[in-house]
Amino acid sequence: MSYYLGVDIGTSSTKTILINPAGKILAEASAAYRLYHPKPLWSEQDPEDWWTAVCKTVKSVVRKASVKPASVKAIGLSGQMHGSVFLDKNDKVIRKALLWNDQRTAAQCQEIEARAGGRKALIRMVANPALTGFTAPKILWLRDNEPKKFDRLRKVLLPKDDVRRRLTGQYATDVSDASGMLLLDVAKRKWSTKLLSKLELDRDLFGKVYESEDVTGNLTAAAAKSLGLTTDCIVVGGAGDCAANALGTGVVNSGSLSMSLGTSGVMFVHSDDVKVDPTGRLHTFCHAVRDKWHMMGVTLTAAGALNWFVETMARELAAGKKDPFKVLIDEAARIPVGSEGLFFLPYLAGERTPHADPDARGSFIGLTLKHQRGHLTRSILEGVAYALRDSLAILKEMEVPVKQIIASGGGAKSEVWREIQAGVMGQSVVRINAEQGPAFGVALLAAVGGGEYKSITKACKATIKVVEKTSATTKAKKQYDAAFPIFQDLYQSLAGDFKKISTL
Ligand code: XUL
Repeated sequence: MSYYLGVDIGTSSTKTILINPAGKILAEASAAYRLYHPKPLWSEQDPEDWWTAVCKTVKSVVRKASVKPASVKAIGLSGQMHGSVFLDKNDKVIRKALLWNDQRTAAQCQEIEARAGGRKALIRMVANPALTGFTAPKILWLRDNEPKKFDRLRKVLLPKDDVRRRLTGQYATDVSDASGMLLLDVAKRKWSTKLLSKLELDRDLFGKVYESEDVTGNLTAAAAKSLGLTTDCIVVGGAGDCAANALGTGVVNSGSLSMSLGTSGVMFVHSDDVKVDPTGRLHTFCHAVRDKWHMMGVTLTAAGALNWFVETMARELAAGKKDPFKVLIDEAARIPVGSEGLFFLPYLAGERTPHADPDARGSFIGLTLKHQRGHLTRSILEGVAYALRDSLAILKEMEVPVKQIIASGGGAKSEVWREIQAGVMGQSVVRINAEQGPAFGVALLAAVGGGEYKSITKACKATIKVVEKTSATTKAKKQYDAAFPIFQDLYQSLAGDFKKISTL
């Protein structure tokens, strides 16, 4: 029998799973690493830590599942998107990688739009506007702020693609992850030579672009040794973690939407053709399904907001015996819908969709003496759901059909949060049998690459099923419908103040 690995290089940890051809998870492992914030709004990681975590978790799952190394036929890679691994001519990392949630590149985003001939022209070239988290502005930031390092720059790779380089010796990426670099002609699924020339960036800085299920190479002898596998093992294109999560939750047909609540929150819909929001609020990227696309909105802090709350405001809980999240969520469950007039804007790391505002701040608004910790927690759960509804509202405006909302990620495990999500979205929310979203999605891509399935769509259909449906009461829906416009107005009222605060 053959086995397949799915490796997801996330922001907090790398999660690796081993599946059999039927999609059954035989073993899983994760390894955490550090996140560096050398300045406010900066976010960096050391690529070496990803590699260490990949080697450790791969060895661990192969050992736990007791399978023969030679029977591991293929690896699928998924990873946090947009991060910039800067390499010199000897493939040495020049500096720590700037991550997707790093907000330092506002000036470079302006320059990109100007060089492209304006925002609309840029959207025509690469389907998206310049956002601080994307990769292209990070390259220009290096040029502007660390010119000596920029002079040494020979390759720019995304996080999972740097791992691929170490596995296969190839500089390569896949269409879904490449879309988030802001340098891909998303409609044509190849690098935009037009934008590259306007930005004076050499095409050779980037790897070869593959479809997600295509084979990008075999393990080198050195990599096979580090992983305890053989050089017969292939590595498929894989996907950025959002598209990978969509595969892992079965979002491979029009009408399905994946709502994932990890550190960030993502609303992701499949599209059979390239649809672009002309104002650039939603991202349009290539899907990890051959010749398909997707649109998505990203809330930078989703379950991350709840983590922040536990770590900063409920530390004593984290030190206790009970699960701090359960304690807080149980308290939130006893608070009425709408948190008795308390709102939370979850912009703890600025916001992407729909505001594209690195200066936006997290805020509790409407506090009174009556409000207790349970209200604060509930308002966080509701605030994140409202922020995601902002993306749903744009999809509806673009007349994109949304027949089914599939919730995934850590935040989807909480029944209370799912109820809130169903109420805020005004639509039932379902859960599926697969919980390992991105790692599962790319393990399935590996199985396709290994010849077990004809296509990723067929692999998803064979392995992913709905297991639970959560609906909201008509009353809750009505209350959330009334509160949502207030949530939207609050950002508009505060945006100017957030700008001023950011200069302090
Ligand atoms: C997507 C994005 C995040 C990261 C997190 O555009 O920035 O979801 O991929 O891992």
